[in-house]
Amino acid sequence: MASQKEQQLVEIIQILSQGGFYSGQAIADKLDVTRAYVWKLIQQLQDLGLGIESVTGRGYCLEYPVELLSSDELDKTLKLQQLDLRLMTDSTNEALKGEGFAHNKLVVAEYQSAGRGRRGRKWVSPIASNLYWSLGWKTQLPVQQLGGLSLVVGLSIVSALEKLGVTGVEVKWPNDVRYQGRKLGGILVELSGDMVGGLNVIIGVGLNVHMANGAASSIEQEWINLQELKPNISRQDVLTAVIQELQKSLEQFAEHGFDAFTEQWSRVDECFNKKVAIIQNDDVVNGIGAGVDSNGAFLLQTGKGIKPIYAGEVSLRFRDED
Ligand code: ATP
Ligand code: BTN
Repeated sequence: MASQKEQQLVEIIQILSQGGFYSGQAIADKLDVTRAYVWKLIQQLQDLGLGIESVTGRGYCLEYPVELLSSDELDKTLKLQQLDLRLMTDSTNEALKGEGFAHNKLVVAEYQSAGRGRRGRKWVSPIASNLYWSLGWKTQLPVQQLGGLSLVVGLSIVSALEKLGVTGVEVKWPNDVRYQGRKLGGILVELSGDMVGGLNVIIGVGLNVHMANGAASSIEQEWINLQELKPNISRQDVLTAVIQELQKSLEQFAEHGFDAFTEQWSRVDECFNKKVAIIQNDDVVNGIGAGVDSNGAFLLQTGKGIKPIYAGEVSLRFRDED
């Protein structure tokens, strides 16, 4: 249940998203609060990463169009066990852990205070700008076969985007969605629960849609927004298309494993035939990307033959030198 303050924040976003300037007093009247309190709420939205411009004598306006996600629309179009759309949460993956888990339950947030990537890295999650969601998936597959899962999620994202007219998106093994070397999204697959009667899998995805530069200042690598690839793309449409595509792929994955996806993978594999370094703790192994095996392990062509690499704790970097 959203708090009164969260409802007020949503109301302000809704007012501003109609376009144009609104004075503090006009917003205060609509919310039935004081102007000083509106000022505080606006400050808070700015702190959460929303681009709000403030012009003396004119009031507040959004720096770019914002569309809040609609749970009614998502409920209508998606076949889900449960939908949980929140304005704010710490991490949508966290929300699905333990008691929060259900098969085919989707948790979506407009803002994450503790969004994370692999190995506890921070996932920058400003409010109402990008997509942050996690899907619960119960599977009878043994854990050893789940190595290809994050690749299947990446493939689903690429296919859904293609259907929306966005082409050229690739996947960097094992969990990065990228466009011309710039990070567009990331995938975090986690296991939860006591593993009795199947595994509880949490599939978390962050996709940049319209993130302001200011909000992204802490990202220490090249990144990109979908907005740049297709102006005015709708977050609602992207989320819907990706979930529908993923649900189809998960059924196929449960039935045939990663084998059913190897050909599709070769079309979006950013590392294929590229010089790469696999880094694990202080160990670095150089080689050339040679695709993936039927379990989704990365195939590294080295001087001593092909070496399979399992996702776990490794990092993959491109390299220019020999
Ligand atoms: P690897 O896992 O191979 O080391 P990586 O550097 O991409 O690759 P990840 O843990 O996959 O690391 O992703 C987290 C990283 O993604 C962060 O350290 C940050 O550089 C970047 N990042 C965080 N938020 C965003 C975002 N919204 N868009 C793009 N990149 C982001
Ligand atoms: C990565 O590139 O390392 C993966 C990033 C995954 C980010 C998403 S956002 C929704 C879900 N909740 C999280 O805390 N992380 C994932």
